[in-house]
Amino acid sequence: MLEFICDLARRGGELAASLQKNISAASSDIERKETVRDVVTEADKQVESFIIGKIRQRFPDHGIHGEENGYVNQDSAYCWVIDPIDGTASYIHHQPCYSTSIALQYRGCSRHAAVYCPVLDELYAAEAGGGAFCNGAPIKVCDHGPLSESNVGTGFSCLRAGWKEHNNLPYFCEIAKEAREMRRFGSAALDLCFVAAGKLDAFWELNLQTYDIAAGTLIVLEAGGQISDLAGADNWPQQGMLASNKKLHQKMLEFFKGYKRRGK
Ligand code: IPD
Ligand code: CA
Ligand code: CA
Repeated sequence: MLEFICDLARRGGELAASLQKNISAASSDIERKETVRDVVTEADKQVESFIIGKIRQRFPDHGIHGEENGYVNQDSAYCWVIDPIDGTASYIHHQPCYSTSIALQYRGCSRHAAVYCPVLDELYAAEAGGGAFCNGAPIKVCDHGPLSESNVGTGFSCLRAGWKEHNNLPYFCEIAKEAREMRRFGSAALDLCFVAAGKLDAFWELNLQTYDIAAGTLIVLEAGGQISDLAGADNWPQQGMLASNKKLHQKMLEFFKGYKRRGK
């Protein structure tokens, strides 16, 4: 199964990269979703259809939850959670940090996961109880503590969704005062894989969707990291999400004391 999901993520990512040359941020065929800042391209849809087609061939009865096509066969205990291009805003601006993210969930829990970044040619993968890998080599979260020596990532989908208040900016400002460096790479799936590989020490974001994180969270956990909502409980991603190398988790949670999702 891991081989199948890795091959699918790689081929999806390669298809996205091949279609990118026909796309520019000014292209008229870039569609707006809920807000003008939330966009989708023909490539997002084509990559998702390609992946769904391959899954159907092999597992016709399984459920599918794709970002662009929504849910299919929801009664099945198995569900493939797909984000064909995670980081479309990076993709249309020809930046490197976008990825194809696929997870196979059993009764709502990710059991197999793969995230492929074609520009970096990095394929992250994990299966429950089997560890995490990058391009076939085992990966582990990094092992150092102080925030002042840490690189921390985040994202601002809350702003893209129009959250004028209760958004991520105040948290960003406070954490940026203490962390060694802040990073906004632009693909939540890849951000999580960077935590798993020890390239980031922690990552948090408000307002993420299941397809953004279904694969990356299993990869973090299998690499020895920790995942929680912003209150330290399990209501992620609804109540925000924090991923860390474990050593930094409690320190990071201090910044979100009293956080409760209030949205727009
Ligand atoms: C987005 C990326 C981004 C994150 C947004 C996501 P999309 O995914 O993961 O890093 O900040 O919340 O929606 O929309 O490009 O698939
Ligand atoms: Ca996407
Ligand atoms: Ca996404």
